[in-house]
Amino acid sequence: MNDQAFSSVAPAGGTGAEKPKMTARDVRVFYGAFEALKGVSIDISTENVTAFIGPSGCGKSTFLRCLNRMNDTVAGARVEGSIALDGRDIHDPAMDVVQLRARVGMVFQKPNPFPKSIYDNVAYGPRIHGLATKKPELDGIVEQSLRRAGLWDEVKDRLADSGTALSGGQQQRLCIARAIAVNPEVILMDEPASALDPIATARIEELIDELRGRYAIVIVTHNMQQAARVSQKVAFFHLGNMVEYGDTREIFTNPKQSRTKDYITGRYG
Ligand SMILES: Nc1ncnc2c1ncn2[C@@H]1O[C@H](COP(=O)(O)OP(=O)(O)O)[C@@H](O)[C@H]1O
Ligand SMILES: [Mg+2]
Repeated sequence: MNDQAFSSVAPAGGTGAEKPKMTARDVRVFYGAFEALKGVSIDISTENVTAFIGPSGCGKSTFLRCLNRMNDTVAGARVEGSIALDGRDIHDPAMDVVQLRARVGMVFQKPNPFPKSIYDNVAYGPRIHGLATKKPELDGIVEQSLRRAGLWDEVKDRLADSGTALSGGQQQRLCIARAIAVNPEVILMDEPASALDPIATARIEELIDELRGRYAIVIVTHNMQQAARVSQKVAFFHLGNMVEYGDTREIFTNPKQSRTKDYITGRYG
């Protein structure tokens, strides 16, 4: 992959307004004949954490998977519409999908560390992407990634232990460190705390806040309190549509659409 293909669009100077990191326009997803996503358009910026909320089955995960082309791996899934990263179409044949998934990392609902050491879980990506040539360099990336994921102090004396031996919350932070290790620009999190206890959940939420601004973060959550705590922007999905998008405070206190209001007031779940 040449670097040129990934050179970002020059930022608009002096306006103070940040260009969106990702833009999606009229994105539709079909599973066979079933239209699971019915034309979603949104901008994702680095300055805000964006939360996708909505009842189960409304298309949150389906849309999240569009953003790093994970639906390519889903049998029968077909994606229409346009999605750009730094203004470049992610479906362009020149787009290397392995590179794309490093730039747009993903953290899943169930922590899924590799059955390898803590060190190797984090070092794996930098190794295959050739981000470090010497051991001290790789050590540095591993340490910095674990620090950013808020896990370094807990694991620095046991880096050779298996990642799968950690607690659930630690495993999830290890998965975040693994995503961070390849210098992502966007981190997608699909219900990252739903398998965790309240203390581990709080730790993940704090971490998301610490990472805000450095990476564009999108979190899917069915927990509205969590969306209110961690996000600045909310997109409400219902039956494959993005019904409403706006500032988190506004969505939760003054939704414009009746379907959003019904959802946040708990009329359906
Ligand atoms: N691999 C798949 N094959 C067929 N249908 C799917 C697949 N994945 C999701 N769906 C359907 O697409 C819709 C949206 O699912 P999903 O994106 O998982 O919703 P959410 O994450 O909001 O719960 C649902 O009706 C679901 O059953
Ligand atoms: Mg889902």
